[in-house]
Amino acid sequence: MATTTTTVTESSSSDNGDASSSSPSSSPNQKIKKVSYELAARNIYYAKPVAAPRSLARLLKPACGGAAPPAPDYILRDVSLTARAGEILAVVGPSGAGKSTLLDILAARTAPTHGRLLLNSSPLRASSFRRLSAHVPQHDAALTLLTVSETFAFAASLLRPSSSSDVAAAVAELLAELRLSHVAHTRVHPSRLSGGERRRVSIGLALLRDPGVVLLDEPTSGLDSSSARVVVGCLRGVAASRGTTVVLSIHQPSARILAAVDSLLLLSRGAVLHHGSLAALDAALLSYGLAVPPQLNPLEFALEVLDQIPHPSLLPPLVTTSQRGI
Ligand SMILES: Nc1ncnc2c1ncn2[C@@H]1O[C@H](COP(=O)(O)OP(=O)(O)OP(=O)(O)O)[C@@H](O)[C@H]1O
Ligand SMILES: [Mg+2]
Repeated sequence: MATTTTTVTESSSSDNGDASSSSPSSSPNQKIKKVSYELAARNIYYAKPVAAPRSLARLLKPACGGAAPPAPDYILRDVSLTARAGEILAVVGPSGAGKSTLLDILAARTAPTHGRLLLNSSPLRASSFRRLSAHVPQHDAALTLLTVSETFAFAASLLRPSSSSDVAAAVAELLAELRLSHVAHTRVHPSRLSGGERRRVSIGLALLRDPGVVLLDEPTSGLDSSSARVVVGCLRGVAASRGTTVVLSIHQPSARILAAVDSLLLLSRGAVLHHGSLAALDAALLSYGLAVPPQLNPLEFALEVLDQIPHPSLLPPLVTTSQRGI
């Protein structure tokens, strides 16, 4: 998967990512009439890319009475979700469930095979959505010779070349928001910053232009539980204070991380087993005769008994869209 990050500040009243009317020079402090975004996916399918036929003979085979082409092998099947402004939606599931593929589709970097994306209930336009959103890939990329403060200032000056006071204000805001003030003058180098601090620098770079929607692939992977908590806590703060719509993927969140998350999308083999709150997951598991043991949270338990939860490819979803009112 590619690792491009694209952001923009959206301060106009445009509803569906018509970022051409936004003011790239406005500071995150100038949040006048900031637009909030509800991102939705409806019945998304994504088929595995098929290798091109190697020879004319293979091309002609079906026409000559050979075997029909194989049915598409779907990585994602009938995925629907809603991510709301000011909230964190966590996409959870085991390795290979389709989390990164889904995030790439939500970031409008990969087109789904079927289904549609909606922004504030209107069909999402990929090019303008990419300008108003930010995608944070799993692996950190920053210039290791610069300090944290210089890294933010350099990126901010590219966005706001005319105003050094705007740059300074944006850098100061980010350092405080991401709890990086204590390392402001430390180089962004693996030997100088912790993994969690470097991850927060990556997130800061994505936030510089105050995107309306932020999509993060495994922002806590490779971090210990307390660093992971700080990262998710910072994202919680960003969602609450800026009204940003945050979608992140995560392997196995702890109870304390889940406390910072507003809703869950549990994926298994490319299909949705649950979309909604942790409490709703608890109730749904119970309805399948799977009582959550007291020492586990409902999601931990669901991940342990994933194979016992009826899969949507065999039965109706665990919680349907209409039941959740989504
Ligand atoms: N371009 C591709 N071609 C073929 N198969 C692919 C492609 N991209 C992903 N897959 C397959 O799709 C499935 C989902 O992959 P994806 O990377 O989305 O999973 P994931 O949930 O993000 O896993 P992880 O937690 O390990 O990152 C996997 O089985 C993967 O091998
Ligand atoms: Mg992944």
